[in-house]
Amino acid sequence: MTFADGFSYRDGSLHCGPVRIADITRETGTPVWVYHFDSIVARYHEHRDAFAGLTHQTCYAVKANSSLALLRMLARAGCGFDANSRGELHRCLTAGADPTRIIMTGVGKSSADIAAALDAGIAYFNVESASECRLISELATRRGVRANIVLRLNPDIETDTHPYISTGEASHKFGLNPADIRTLASQESWLPGVRIAGLSFHLGSQLVSTDPYRDALRLLLKVLDDITPLLPEAPDVVDVGGGFGVPYAADESALSPESLADVIRDVLGDRAASIQLITEPGRSFVANAGALFCSVEHLKPSAPNRTFVILDAGMNDLMRPALYQARHAIIPVQRDENAEPMLCDVVGPVCESSDVFVAGTELPSSLQRGQLVAILSAGAYGSSMSSTYNSRPLATEVAVVGDAWTVIRERQTLDDMLRGEKLR
Ligand code: LLP
Repeated sequence: MTFADGFSYRDGSLHCGPVRIADITRETGTPVWVYHFDSIVARYHEHRDAFAGLTHQTCYAVKANSSLALLRMLARAGCGFDANSRGELHRCLTAGADPTRIIMTGVGKSSADIAAALDAGIAYFNVESASECRLISELATRRGVRANIVLRLNPDIETDTHPYISTGEASHKFGLNPADIRTLASQESWLPGVRIAGLSFHLGSQLVSTDPYRDALRLLLKVLDDITPLLPEAPDVVDVGGGFGVPYAADESALSPESLADVIRDVLGDRAASIQLITEPGRSFVANAGALFCSVEHLKPSAPNRTFVILDAGMNDLMRPALYQARHAIIPVQRDENAEPMLCDVVGPVCESSDVFVAGTELPSSLQRGQLVAILSAGAYGSSMSSTYNSRPLATEVAVVGDAWTVIRERQTLDDMLRGEKLR
């Protein structure tokens, strides 16, 4: 399983690092998310090291997996953060992150988001509209400060990914076109609460080619040169966003941090020394280091020679298959080499026909009610996108660190789920 960071079979039984999954689920029950923290921090180091020689800061995109324990581990390792709301900012600060390594992104920041970020003293805001720019300037002026902003370029570049996670084309709501960036730069002197520190882009998610990054970076540098004479201080921040693809199956490939760094070094050339580079990886740190463990609730024959495997986790827990037709490998926790393969559709219990994790996969025919299966590559945009739809409580989360495991979020109780509601 080259695409599962830290998960492997030992004596036929699935482990996370050295820990038997069955030992975890015996105590926590299912569904349960399990993360291999050592792999996540190794991915961070690999990413950071790929950019050696450049002035570079990694800002992990919190939306991919916003677990406090995970944020704390990354903060302690020196990682910065991309927070997309004051909620994500609150998580970063609670986890002990250094505010000067936090950036705030997002197309619709509210006054409350901006105020919280100004009060925390974050590094900069990624700005996506003139309206937002004016609001930041106003709120910063009121506080007697000048906020660093980085303008998000919409480079109008097509990417080869699912349309719901492509963000760099002119028709998308994200970013500003070069002409609007120029206009904003020429008006900077009228906006006393902001200082344009550089430019950014984010092209989409799950990208495996470096070509769009090369094209977008070339354009970004052109726009940077275009606006520099308009500004009192030369802007030097270049933020290339995230989106670095990972394999979800053995025949899929990743976008390696080394290949991305090589392209960036190549395009920056001699200018590299005067640029502060920012990257915003999310998925590539966590996707393959997390899995969702579920129990088989029921087995039910469907078409001839086909079986519905109904799990105790549903689309409310892991939404990606229903939302993006995403494919996640599903494997038994206990291998049975002697069993014939059984053709099945693996589904959840939610009352929606789209609550299907995978249609047409093979699991051992010896699979029984109560046995465990793993939905792999679920560490990114899994728990962070969960909901309580069908009034199903949010699942337990567990971290494996070294040879120990620990609960990092308790299962929501039924009463937790009702908290804040009034009978009348
Ligand atoms: N920076 C910005 C401005 C972003 O909008 C995102 C992701 C990232 C960085 C991190 O991208 P990553 O490295 O994780 O690809 N829910 C979808 C993915 C949505 C991504 C949203 N923005 C999924 O499950 O595939």
